[in-house]
Amino acid sequence: MENILITGGAGFIGSNFAHYLAKHRKFYNLVIYDALTYAGNIDNLKDLKNLVFIEGNICDYELLRETIIKNKIDTIVHFAAESHNDNSLDGPRAFIETNIIGTYNILELCRTYALRLHHISTDEVFGDLDLDDPNKFTELTAYYPSSPYSASKASADHLVRAWVRSFGIKATISNCSNNYGPRQHHEKFIPRQITNALSGLPLKLYGDGLNVRDWIHVDDHNSAVLAILERGKIGETYLIGAGGEKNNKEVIEIISKKMNAPIEYVKDRVGHDRRYAINFSKLSSELQWTPKHTDFEKEIDELIVWYDENRWFWENSKGEVEKEYKKRGQ
Ligand code: NAD
Ligand code: DAU
Repeated sequence: MENILITGGAGFIGSNFAHYLAKHRKFYNLVIYDALTYAGNIDNLKDLKNLVFIEGNICDYELLRETIIKNKIDTIVHFAAESHNDNSLDGPRAFIETNIIGTYNILELCRTYALRLHHISTDEVFGDLDLDDPNKFTELTAYYPSSPYSASKASADHLVRAWVRSFGIKATISNCSNNYGPRQHHEKFIPRQITNALSGLPLKLYGDGLNVRDWIHVDDHNSAVLAILERGKIGETYLIGAGGEKNNKEVIEIISKKMNAPIEYVKDRVGHDRRYAINFSKLSSELQWTPKHTDFEKEIDELIVWYDENRWFWENSKGEVEKEYKKRGQ
């Protein structure tokens, strides 16, 4: 592993992964391949030296192929996706194209050029759990996705497994729970609330606010991805989580208190998954991985400072995103 292509590396988790590698694995050469959709921002990479950036769509097979050959790529970490559930309810097509067709292109290139692939997926492929279910998701939980987003990610996971079994490609998969951290787009729950408070708007809570998410800091997600990439067993799937279950009301109340902002209850998401929860014992026992950023309130304090100090990241598009939410009654 020497020359790594990071798809979606200008987005939230992918750009944090590039920063993580630049800090902890200076010897890898990094190539970022990203279409710069509304969710990608080249300035997310502005502090990084010595990386190659290619603006390109993963649905563009020829450009991907050229990029792989020209940069002697031997490894792909595949983050690129349409990633927001609410958008997938408004317009599913882009999710089918990027998340399924785009992943298919990557798999075909991995097959042709014998590349190592790590495919980034989500816990949403399993559907949801009841609030009082004693079980959590494991690597053996059946797939039961609820939204166009999660169904498209589930499809991509199935393709990866089929390409491993049928064509012997060298791939691993990880399914992670809800991430938070710097550079997350303000359409998502935590950054939306922080940027609302910074804009003098009320915080917005869907439905009864009792839906549970299993929060993990983006650097913990990425340290797990790196552990799988370097030490994971080919063909295996690993669930990534950090024991961070909280309902949305608890999270929004923390932000409301810290930022002195009121909370408004708004229309619920259609088909809203009730609860996600991850059992990450395979990852911790087989790869000796543990999360480090587990003091949620301290991380939220740091995040509030980050969004306040980095208004370039969100201020210009805040009005537009809130206009879309308003149309949906949210
Ligand atoms: P994001 O929306 O912040 O970033 C996605 C990036 O992919 C953007 O830079 C965008 O420009 C790029 N992109 C989109 N379509 C593309 C295309 N067709 N070709 C090339 N680039 C394209 O998403 P994120 O939150 O960073 O999520 C990254 C990955 O992690 C996704 O695969 C997502 O399913 C998965 N994931 C996210 C979370 C989470 O909590 N955010 C949790 C688990 C898994
Ligand atoms: O579980 C992993 C998934 O987590 C990833 O695969 C997705 O890419 C990522 O977007 C995230 O999906 P969610 O739908 O859980 O995240 P979102 O930030 O959209 O919402 C988190 C919860 O907060 C969810 O229950 C809906 C609720 N919510 C969201 C927004 C934007 C609100 O109550 N108010 C809001 O304003």
